[in-house]
Amino acid sequence: MFDGVEADGWTDGAAYDAGMGRWSRAVAETFLVWLNRRPGLTWLDIGCGTGALTGAVLDRTRPERVLAIDPSSAFLAHARARLADPRILFQAGEMEEIPAPDAAFDAVVSGLALNFLDRPRFAMPELRRVAKPGGVVAAYVWDYGGRMEPLRKFWEAAAELETDSFDFDETRRFADCDPEHLSDLFEGAGFDSVETKAIDLPLAFDDFEACWRAVATGCGPAPSYAATLDDSTRDALKRAYRQAICPHGGTVRATARAWAVRAVT
Ligand SMILES: C[S@@+](CC[C@H](N)C(=O)[O-])C[C@H]1O[C@@H](n2cnc3c(N)ncnc32)[C@H](O)[C@@H]1O
Repeated sequence: MFDGVEADGWTDGAAYDAGMGRWSRAVAETFLVWLNRRPGLTWLDIGCGTGALTGAVLDRTRPERVLAIDPSSAFLAHARARLADPRILFQAGEMEEIPAPDAAFDAVVSGLALNFLDRPRFAMPELRRVAKPGGVVAAYVWDYGGRMEPLRKFWEAAAELETDSFDFDETRRFADCDPEHLSDLFEGAGFDSVETKAIDLPLAFDDFEACWRAVATGCGPAPSYAATLDDSTRDALKRAYRQAICPHGGTVRATARAWAVRAVT
């Protein structure tokens, strides 16, 4: 389904939170409203990163406990420092081999992470295995090729330059982040009654510089790509991006869309 490169650069939790991670919390909150789970449940947040969804689960659903797992030790360290709560346990691990017993969680969730797996299909039996019978399994990913506008326009600008953006380009790598492929992924794992939903965040930046900082600096595929460029090529990218997202100057307004999917075991 998706392919991956090793240069996604999940190495600096503070940088992630200052950039793209700023939107993670907002999308997590809307996602949880849609899931509509009662208080007192056990949750797994897999691919938890710096803890955006974990924190939202804690604040919004009053869980009994949350196990939050990610392979990035840097992100886990940042999350632990930010979210010290006896109900949360942060642990190293991967979605393809979840370090948890069978039927352990009422809710198994993942935010903005599924597409970074080389083969998400191989992780689906694991998501199912750790969910209790009657529990919910749900996830969301950015709409990279569609209405995740700040990223799509960044990669369109990169494609205009004579640089090698191919390996980084999220609109190409994650072309399957749409409701049809998400439904197929869940149905292929044996889930019935799979539902999908668009989550749209309206974004506003004071000016283009603020938008550039959020998308092209920090941590993730776009900043990793921008860091490979020499100064003059990066300036050319910045000009092309400005033209794409903010041709007339002033406040930058854009939509950030995620596609969410849920199913009950
Ligand atoms: C874009 S970040 C999302 C983090 C967080 N869930 C959020 O909403 O901000 C993608 C995350 O996926 C994690 N990841 C990458 N490969 C993974 C895998 N095989 N299993 C679990 N998580 C993975 C990365 O370490 C990173 O934290």
